[in-house]
This record gives sequence, C-alpha cells and structure tokens, in this order.
Amino acid sequence: MALALDPTKIPAHIAIIMDGNGRWANQRGLPRFAGHRAGVQRVRNIVEACSDMGVQALTLYAFSAENWKRPRAEVDMLWRLLRFYLRSDLADLMRNDVRLQSSGRVEALPPRAYEELRSTERATSRNRGMRLNLAINYSARNELVDAMNSIVDEARLRGKLDKLVVDEEMVSRRLQTAGLPEPDLLIRTSGEMRVSNFLLWQIAYAEIYVTDTLWPDFDTTQLLLAVQDFQKRERRFGGLSSGSGLQAAAAYESSEEVADEQLEQEIELSIR
Ligand code: FPP
Repeated sequence: MALALDPTKIPAHIAIIMDGNGRWANQRGLPRFAGHRAGVQRVRNIVEACSDMGVQALTLYAFSAENWKRPRAEVDMLWRLLRFYLRSDLADLMRNDVRLQSSGRVEALPPRAYEELRSTERATSRNRGMRLNLAINYSARNELVDAMNSIVDEARLRGKLDKLVVDEEMVSRRLQTAGLPEPDLLIRTSGEMRVSNFLLWQIAYAEIYVTDTLWPDFDTTQLLLAVQDFQKRERRFGGLSSGSGLQAAAAYESSEEVADEQLEQEIELSIR
C-alpha cells in the first residue's frame, strides 16, 4: 500500500490526537494502564513510519493540560510510561535521525519526567530528520495566552506598549511550534469529533481525519489509509478549486450582463 502513496503529496506535518487507550483496555477486560502501554508501542511504530515516509514533523498529543483531572494513579503511570519511552527509544530516534521537542507547560511535569524529556531533547538536538513534537501538559489556549503575554511583555520592555499592534506573524513566531510547518493533516483516533484544545491556531487549514480505530490498534496500515485519504482531498485554503471553481469565477467576472443593479435584485429576492 505504501507504493500507492503519491510521494509529492506527503503531509509536511501530521498531528495526532491519540485517543481510545482506555476503551481498548476495557474491551479486553484489562486495566486502563494496559491500554496506555499498548499505546506506547503504537507511538514507536507511527514515529518510525512517519519518518520513513518523509514527514517533516509529527506532533503527538501525549498529555493535555486537562488530563491532570484523571486519577492520580493513572497520571503517575503516564509519566512513568513517558520516561520509559524516552529512555528505551533514544537509540531508535538517533538511528532515524529524529529530533525530539515538546510543546506545553512541561516545567510542571514531575522532576524525573521533566529531566528525561530535556535530556532526550538535548541528545537529539543535532538530528536533522523528522521533528517529533510531544505535546505534554499542553493546552492550545494556554499556548496562545503565553504568546500574547510575551508580545505585550516585549513591547513593554522596549517602551513601545502604547504603539503595539499585534499581527499573525508575531503570534506564530511565539508558539511552541514555531519553525515547524503548519499541520497538513490532523488525525484523531477512536471516533470522537472533537479538537480538544489541540493546536487551535496551527490547524486552521489542516485536513481532519477521524477514524473509529482505537489508538492501540492504529498501526502503519491505518496511517497509510489516513495519508491516502489526505492525498485525495482538494485543499483550497479559502480560495477556489483549480478546476470548475476557477472556470466558474472567470466566467462570472467576464460576464458584462451581471450589472450591479441586477445582482442586488437577485440578492434581495434570495433572502426574502
Ligand atoms: C487517550 O486515551 C490517551 C491519553 C490521554 C494518553 C496518550 C498516551 C500514550 C499513548 C502513551 C504515552 C505517550 C508517549 C508519547 C510515550 P484515553 O485514556 O482517553 O482513552 P479513552 O477515551 O478510551 O478512555
């Protein structure tokens, strides 16, 4: 199936909401922890598959700022799994030339998880292949608020607060994904039709792919299906399609009969 992909249309950045670990475990009569552990195996597979495919950046939603509401034992287990993953997969990350980074308020992580994360970021910092961005203790709203505050602080420090006018570029540069291409494809597993406070700014034009497959079952074949689906999408970025849409627009523009007055009448009729 890999051969069926168009190599010229590989998404530059894939972002994934890895959902369904708990349900996967529940369906098997296992504790939730078993679902998260199986989820780590999928993280491995998908990181390697994306890197092999030539994806430039992969963002994985590993822990949301809201996930602290879960039982303490589950949260602790997630930190343990994160540390385990970072330690056990460093060699693979190096072999695949993957550079690890993170988004989110990671300073709030338990010290050992935080240290392991920073140490893996340092160890992989010279790698030039795919960027693996782990969203941990992440909230898109927090990220945007932090970006706005840093703009205001900088302007204040330079005594230019009264003249401050914020633009999109200023915000983008202060997001934790600065330097990464914007996500082309957002995948959510386990069928939920929600964005859940994930990369709200960055996914403005991402293609969304939701699959009923639970994260621990999301294997390389599932990934290829998602990318195949992405490759069939027509991306217009708010413009018109290159085919019929553009022809229709050209015909409309060249039509001299469409006088302003007639157009106004048509609009009036259509909204009555
Ligand atoms: C959602 O499933 C999953 C999470 C909140 C955690 C995701 C974590 C991992 C896949 C493992 C650790 C990650 C890394 C990067 C090593 P859920 O528990 O909400 O599932 P449910 O909705 O079925 O209960």
